[in-house]
Amino acid sequence: MSSIEPFDVVDLIRAKRDHGTLDTAQINWLVDAYTRGYVADEQMAAMTMAIFLNGMERQEIRDLTLAMIASGETLDFGGLSKRTTDKHSTGGVGDKITLPLAPLVASFGVAVPQLSGRGLGHTGGTLDKLESIPGWRASLSNEEFLSQLEEVGAVICAAGSGLAPADGKLYALRDITGTVEAIPLIASSIMSKKIAEGTSALVLDVKFGSGAFLRDIAQSRKLAETMVALGEDAGVATRALLTDMNVPLGLTIGNALEVRESVEVLAGGGPADVIELTLGLAREMLALAGQPDADVEAALADGRAMDTWRRMIAAQGGDPSAALPVAKENHVVTADRDGVLATQDALPFGVAAWRLGAGRARKQDSVQAAAGIELHAKPGDRVTRGQALFTLHTDEPARFDRALDALGGSWSIADTAPARGPLIVERIGG
Ligand code: URA
Repeated sequence: MSSIEPFDVVDLIRAKRDHGTLDTAQINWLVDAYTRGYVADEQMAAMTMAIFLNGMERQEIRDLTLAMIASGETLDFGGLSKRTTDKHSTGGVGDKITLPLAPLVASFGVAVPQLSGRGLGHTGGTLDKLESIPGWRASLSNEEFLSQLEEVGAVICAAGSGLAPADGKLYALRDITGTVEAIPLIASSIMSKKIAEGTSALVLDVKFGSGAFLRDIAQSRKLAETMVALGEDAGVATRALLTDMNVPLGLTIGNALEVRESVEVLAGGGPADVIELTLGLAREMLALAGQPDADVEAALADGRAMDTWRRMIAAQGGDPSAALPVAKENHVVTADRDGVLATQDALPFGVAAWRLGAGRARKQDSVQAAAGIELHAKPGDRVTRGQALFTLHTDEPARFDRALDALGGSWSIADTAPARGPLIVERIGG
């Protein structure tokens, strides 16, 4: 006997197409019927395009998020003796902040569960970066995950497919139908996974600019506000920082190169922008975990954060003392005149690192651990003719030409550099 479906999907598509609003029962049914295959991909594609074009009300976004959470399992950290606080970044070029941040925050006795992904396209994946450490493994059982959270505090590991599986299916569809960049869909996608993960507090790093998902600051602000509201509605204390991603973060782009720079930050050094963002996010996470006065600088300076890093890496089979892989070939690009480095556009640098082998074009591709770009100057730095500006690294020299093509016009030297705004532009929520 076939079951009777309560709605006709074409009616729902027409409603969104004509600027209507879906109610909770309709959204619950839509997500469930799509997950079990009753609603076809082409119908859901039409729906996501209608949402992309016409938006959604706050209640609809909330219903969509809850329906995606209900499609899978939820984790429960209630048995831990520590408070949990998590962070999510919308992704950018050279964004390695999770690596120093998780052990830094955990060194204050807080649990930081970081369920992460692999990179696709020009933004790198946290797991790809950590996999450049000899022996380190991304997959943990639930028991290993919980016991590492209790013992070490910080865990960065692969997210299982059990959290919000409806989002996995929907995201793959959006990816091939030009409907990724819709605020209701991005917000519900990210927050369904974070809420299902069971954290009690969450800090979002929402980026804008050339290397970010959304270039426009007003759009990024709206995304941040939408995600903060979703988190708060679900009982997760949520804040967001709106941060500039027009220039690569730090001086390295690429897996092993970014691990090296993260370790420099944990050792009390590293580039100013990486330190600033790591400290800014750590303060927000610790404030939400009840430690508003935590001295985060001290934990970097006195080695506490580094100790937690070493324990975190070792707990997942990695050797924190092992040498990181080094690329077989490199190519140095030098300044063609004296002056000041005026521009360094994040997106082309991300694309070039990806073409050098640091990222993957398809899910099944592998990445080169040592490939990427090392920057020797940042905008505002004085440079002299012949000085090295950046070095490309790869194991396959045939990749240099396409990487250099991507970089054409992406940097410039002038007599003076244009003024730059702050890295952390705004704080939303709280
Ligand atoms: N990351 C996600 O998990 N979902 C989106 O929609 C966009 C970025």
